Amino acid sequence: MKIEYFHASKYGNGAKVAEEFKNQMAAKGVTVNVHHVKDVRPKEVAPADLYLFSSPGRFGKPIGDMRGFLKKANLPSGTKYAVLVTELAPEPEKAIRIPTTEEELGKCQHVIPVINEMLQKKGLVKIGEGKIFVTGLKGPLEVNWHKEVEAFASRIPISP
Ligand SMILES: Cc1cc2nc3c(=O)[nH]c(=O)nc-3n(C[C@H](O)[C@H](O)[C@H](O)COP(=O)(O)O)c2cc1C
Repeated sequence: MKIEYFHASKYGNGAKVAEEFKNQMAAKGVTVNVHHVKDVRPKEVAPADLYLFSSPGRFGKPIGDMRGFLKKANLPSGTKYAVLVTELAPEPEKAIRIPTTEEELGKCQHVIPVINEMLQKKGLVKIGEGKIFVTGLKGPLEVNWHKEVEAFASRIPISP
């Protein structure tokens, strides 16, 4: 099984998540090729059994690099995909206030739905989604992030 993993990490947190996922899947005999979207020509995406997309949030949406990539990407209809985003950890005590700051804006989360909409328009088939939280606008990743990546990886069906 071969997975092509595309991320748009700006501050390095999503890149760490990608490496961790790659290592965890390698232990199960699955090859994961990790790419930053800026290093890939969207019209020349390699074929894969599964595509994985990972984006940081920007004001509730995927970061511009990821939106641009998904818009242009040539992805074979019918291919399976999964989404694993890095998002600001929710702060329940502030949840009922109207968002005013950048941090609070992070709560209007549509990162995963926007990615799903763009991919499903191209005929891709979702098999999983997950979030790894960061505790500040530029990170770091939440304390248990390795375990969260492991939990996500365990939900990916492995084919021979
Ligand atoms: C200007 C700005 C806006 C942001 N907006 C959101 C947001 O809407 N939702 C969210 O979850 N995180 C938001 N964040 C925090 C990102 O989730 C965080 O930067 C990202 O997960 C870090 O991943 P990276 O290190 O891979 O870039 C924002 C960060 C910045 C700097």
